[in-house]
Amino acid sequence: MTKKSYAMHVAMILGASAVLLLFIFVLVAHHRGIPERVRLDRGALLSTASSVAERIKPVGQVSILSAETRPEPVKIAAAAASPGRDGQQVYQASCVVCHGAGIAGAPKLGDKGQWAKPIAKGLNTLYASAVNGMQGSAGVMPAKGGNPALSDAEVKAAVDYMVAQSK
Ligand code: HEC
Repeated sequence: MTKKSYAMHVAMILGASAVLLLFIFVLVAHHRGIPERVRLDRGALLSTASSVAERIKPVGQVSILSAETRPEPVKIAAAAASPGRDGQQVYQASCVVCHGAGIAGAPKLGDKGQWAKPIAKGLNTLYASAVNGMQGSAGVMPAKGGNPALSDAEVKAAVDYMVAQSK
């Protein structure tokens, strides 16, 4: 072995050891932080007695109330009776964007001149246009005004409202 290659070997071994040492150092530093982190997490979980009570409290509660303290029964009958929103509400929610100001070729609410032609087609045609959408000469009427959550009945109610306001 020449002197030069011997020196090179020593340098290589020293270099490799340095890398190994660095690796071990990083590993140890990383693991030393773990118990501390676990402690912190546990502390956060158990920190307050009230939060424990909160977490283990029963899902439901039976309450027995006397006639005087019992609250009035909630009135859901009225809400359940109406099957959907009325035509004006649907119009305000989903149609006014285009038909309010008559943008993008949409016949404007209340404009008798613009509505004369559509109305002449008959209500059933208008219902079909509104529910399924239509491509007319003036523009695109999106199906259900672009709101697929509307029921057919709600869309028809909105058409009725628009026609009533525009003839
Ligand atoms: C993105 C804009 C836009 C929205 C939102 C919109 N419309 Fe229209 N609508 C149009 C356009 C444009 C036309 C005209 C198409 C044509 O005649 O070229 C039209 C036409 C109509 C017509 C006439 C159809 C016919 O056959 O002539 C009815 C009825 C109608 N819309 C109902 C509605 C109802 C009901 C809603 C809400 C649920 C609604 N529109 C929401 C753009 C819209």
